[in-house]
Amino acid sequence: MSQASAVAYANIALVKYWGKRDSALNLPAAGSLSLTLNTLRTDTMVHFDESLTHDSFELDGRESDPRKLTTWLDLVRARAKLQTRAHVVSRNAFPTASGLASSASAYAALAVAASSAAGLSLTVRELSELARRGSGSAARSIFAGFALMHAGTKADGSDAVAEPIVGADDWDLRMVIAVVGGGKVKGVSSRDAMEHCAATSPLYQAWLDCVPNDVQAARSAIDARDLAALGAITRDSAMAMHAAAMASRPPVRYWQAATLRCLDRVEELVGSGIPAYPTMDAGPHVKVLTDAAHCQEVARAIGEIPEVTEVKICAPGPAAHLLSEASD
Ligand code: DP6
Repeated sequence: MSQASAVAYANIALVKYWGKRDSALNLPAAGSLSLTLNTLRTDTMVHFDESLTHDSFELDGRESDPRKLTTWLDLVRARAKLQTRAHVVSRNAFPTASGLASSASAYAALAVAASSAAGLSLTVRELSELARRGSGSAARSIFAGFALMHAGTKADGSDAVAEPIVGADDWDLRMVIAVVGGGKVKGVSSRDAMEHCAATSPLYQAWLDCVPNDVQAARSAIDARDLAALGAITRDSAMAMHAAAMASRPPVRYWQAATLRCLDRVEELVGSGIPAYPTMDAGPHVKVLTDAAHCQEVARAIGEIPEVTEVKICAPGPAAHLLSEASD
């Protein structure tokens, strides 16, 4: 009987991951670059229990289907030479499956908790690889602050991992998140949407072609602590990703009317000299990259939009970590 608890924080991609080079190993087709945030937190407890006949999964207080989890836990069991089933309890401090990146913090927390509970002692690189098998974006949430995800070239995926580039304390930016429509809305999952986009969108290859330069330019902007340069890449990467998704046949459109209202408001802010750079993921919510001096003003401005049900101000967040050691 062995148990461990871990915490991880969601990240928002500044250069997006959208498309895979291998679905079975969940290998991204291109790199990506993200900022781990301090408020979007997932707490996960994993308990390998000899008395269980199957894995059980409690998410936000409710019994959930453990099938996807079982497939992922089998990776941990194979590595630890373990047969034991697990009880997993996970809690998100934000709406699940709403486009607020819950799978990123979920699999990062799981990788840390499950590997420890199974008695494995993995490097952060191995944790990132393990988290990626659950969700590509989760590989980045192993790390604090700014993280760079490599597409890798190896067939076994061992080089498709993230690495930390600038720590949470090294550049004090803010991400203001406007939750649109109560946080309950979710269309097609990012996994299905990116697969459909790769298979049908005439803009998919054009999207992939712009990623390496964007990653490089974002790295340089981060090194130079140049918010205007990083913000422009953040905005442009999101727009290119959504353009490719919207050109899918049939289209994948996450945007709602309120999404556009938020984007208009951000443009007004920019017009009055405020650094504000929008990004969106697989949901209608708008996230705005800004700095500490302007985050309250940005939050106030987008919070005035009627369909914006919640506004969160997030700062760079910590790495995934254990809350308790594995115990017998
Ligand atoms: C739009 O990591 O959820 O948020 O690897 O299939 O689980 P899977 O996809 P996932 O995709 C995230 C897509 C995105 C952009 C990003 O976070 O980079």
